[in-house]
Amino acid sequence: MTEETSTGLKDISQIPKSEVERIVQWSKLARNPRYNRCDEGWSGFGKNCFGYHGYFAFLDATGSVSSPRAHEGFYLSGLGSATGDQEGNNNPAVLISGLATPSMAEIAVRGVERGTAIDIIDICETPLLVTQTTIPKLKEHDLRIKQQDVLDLDGLLEMAEHRGLYSAVVTDAFLTRFHDDEKHQVLESFSRILRRSSGSLITTWRIRDEQQDERGYGTELDREIFIENVVAAAEGLGIPYTLDEIGAAYNYASTMTSHGGQSIGEIRSMVEQHFKDVRIESTWPYKVYDVTMRTYARILARDPKNT
Ligand SMILES: C[S@@+](CC[C@H](N)C(=O)[O-])C[C@H]1O[C@@H](n2cnc3c(N)ncnc32)[C@H](O)[C@@H]1O
Repeated sequence: MTEETSTGLKDISQIPKSEVERIVQWSKLARNPRYNRCDEGWSGFGKNCFGYHGYFAFLDATGSVSSPRAHEGFYLSGLGSATGDQEGNNNPAVLISGLATPSMAEIAVRGVERGTAIDIIDICETPLLVTQTTIPKLKEHDLRIKQQDVLDLDGLLEMAEHRGLYSAVVTDAFLTRFHDDEKHQVLESFSRILRRSSGSLITTWRIRDEQQDERGYGTELDREIFIENVVAAAEGLGIPYTLDEIGAAYNYASTMTSHGGQSIGEIRSMVEQHFKDVRIESTWPYKVYDVTMRTYARILARDPKNT
């Protein structure tokens, strides 16, 4: 895991070269026509999500965006306690809901108990195909990968029915992809598919800052600094780049939209409508850089409510 500095910028001198090359490769594969399915993917990034799924791993390799790697220890321990030696559940299964790159799947295979079944969904097939190809350890698990809209409850229930029990749903910064009414819909769906096993939701959620619901992250100045940071990190790490990657970095910063991060109290009260036992910690004073500096809530929600 890369340590955050107090400014939120990653200390890139700590990132091993092999790790950087591996993550850059994910980005190349996501742009390869054999893997790219963004034409029929996620509509939250404009016309299609090629500019997001095709380049997010490149940006993550430069340490310039928020990815599961910033919360690795939290995800590992959450998954470990949700799937390890659970009395009465000898066949644990976890659902990874939404992943921009294979990063969350890579963390999950390290976090879960051996033999845990893993289901992975995303509304776009691109990250699913790249994940399936690049994380060989997934083959050691009973694996199901499916293009699935999380707002389609019947599809989710069908997946949960197939598994019998989900011990955990894990997802990185997923809820802020949705407007507030949809956030409740997603939380309720997760609560429903975890209910039979009394499983856990393990996730992170950007805590409110000055920017809400606007297209694009930060100000124009923040975006210019972001490009400078991406270029400096790519050069420092020896990552090859062209104008294509730099244009994509600007496109990312000016297109992404995050729906209304809440205060810690608001996040708690939203999650508590669906789960009885909600534990939240903030990453404060450590911030995660993603065009602007962000603070995240790390949420472990257990004991789904029967609403
Ligand atoms: C999990 S979020 C945040 C990504 C995270 N920072 C990472 O590095 O994995 C983004 C992912 O959610 C997916 N997504 C967005 N809306 C979705 C939906 N309704 N159902 C399933 N997946 C969705 C997008 O396609 C994207 O891959």
